[in-house]
Amino acid sequence: MKTALITGITGQDGSILAELLLKKGYRVIGLMRRISTEPPYRLRHLGLEDSLHSGSLILAGGDITDINSIINLLKKYQPDEIYNLAAQSDVAIAFEQPHLTASINYIGVLNILTAIRALNMEDAVRLYQASTSEMFGGTARELKLQTQDEKTPFWPLSPYGNAKLAAHFEVVRARHVEHGKQIRTACGILFNHESELRGENFVTRKITKALARIKAGKQDILYLGNLEAKRDWGYARDYVEAMWQMLQQEGPADQWQDFVIATGETRTVRQFVEAACKCLGWSIRWEGAGNNEKGYVDDKLVVAVNPKFFRPNDVYLLCGNPAKAKKILGWRPKTSFDELVAKMMAHDLKQEGIAVPAA
Ligand code: NAP
Ligand code: GDD
Repeated sequence: MKTALITGITGQDGSILAELLLKKGYRVIGLMRRISTEPPYRLRHLGLEDSLHSGSLILAGGDITDINSIINLLKKYQPDEIYNLAAQSDVAIAFEQPHLTASINYIGVLNILTAIRALNMEDAVRLYQASTSEMFGGTARELKLQTQDEKTPFWPLSPYGNAKLAAHFEVVRARHVEHGKQIRTACGILFNHESELRGENFVTRKITKALARIKAGKQDILYLGNLEAKRDWGYARDYVEAMWQMLQQEGPADQWQDFVIATGETRTVRQFVEAACKCLGWSIRWEGAGNNEKGYVDDKLVVAVNPKFFRPNDVYLLCGNPAKAKKILGWRPKTSFDELVAKMMAHDLKQEGIAVPAA
């Protein structure tokens, strides 16, 4: 039985990846902060409590910024694979808390690499790093690139992107060490991926949750920031498959590769709102522009812009080209944009007690 360590197991990706690895027969160890709710609600939602009782899923207390936590975990559980998903993953918060973001998103990775080396585990372990399309940041605007792939230059625009880029290069460097032991590492440069378990602070879930509440009569208006931003939105369940596939690469460490994981399609935040409204049988009519733009359903105001949700710098266009992942890993997204929105909308309607018509 293989053992996998997942940092960030209480998050969207960590919980869905845990479910996948348990199905594959792994013993899964999850690093969990003491401040997380217990038992973590996403793991409960996925019905993983039995795995906790049987011991195939173990939650171990610790913090990625504390190197002792990592050393103790590696020593105790000797994982074959490490998936480093722990992060301060909210880009807007990173502008307000850049030091905390750097500490979790960059120093956390250094801690993992340092622990592997201190315990002489370089040959024993494989490391997946959650890199991000935010590292491409301004490439669309500055370099006029309409899609991004593994060869696209990085141009981060946020403290989040900066910290993730530093971590990315640290993890890439670990497999190209010239004098010393190399570590088998892979970075997944994942574009936005969402699900029913997406944090409510991210725009897609904020939209589906708010529209369900508006439908239930519990909320009046959904306030958003930049409606023009374009993202390449995929389904998280498809994306965790790619994480696992990346760690099944063969050959010596310096031949391991990083992959862009994306759908190849991009849409504005406004289009996401329209698609979510469509699931409710609503047709939204936009009036005004910029800070005064408003969305109406019939004559009811449903969406308005609040400048407090604008960021000091925003990434205007992300659209990934997953051709390399298709060719080498055989990975492709299975869930369409419309299916993704429908799944999220149905989940949030159900949470509001609203019956969803069968598809
Ligand atoms: P998420 O839902 O925000 O989960 C983040 C996880 O990190 C949570 O389990 C959180 O624990 C944990 N964490 C935060 N600080 C920690 C610390 N100091 N020590 C230990 N654990 C800590 O994020 P996600 O959407 O699943 O994303 C997973 C990873 O992929 C992140 O690294 C993110 O940056 C990256 N990524 C995500 C996307 C995307 O679109 N989802 C795209 C590209 C890359 P608590 O429950 O205690 O807060
Ligand atoms: N969160 C949020 N809230 N975003 C809004 C809002 C709002 O009210 N209104 C407009 N937006 C815009 C943001 O300005 C951004 O351009 C876009 O919606 C997407 O924002 P988020 O859903 O917060 O995601 P993100 O793209 O900033 O970051 C996510 O994807 C990255 C990969 O590209 C996170 O999951 C990151 O951790 C991940 O690395």
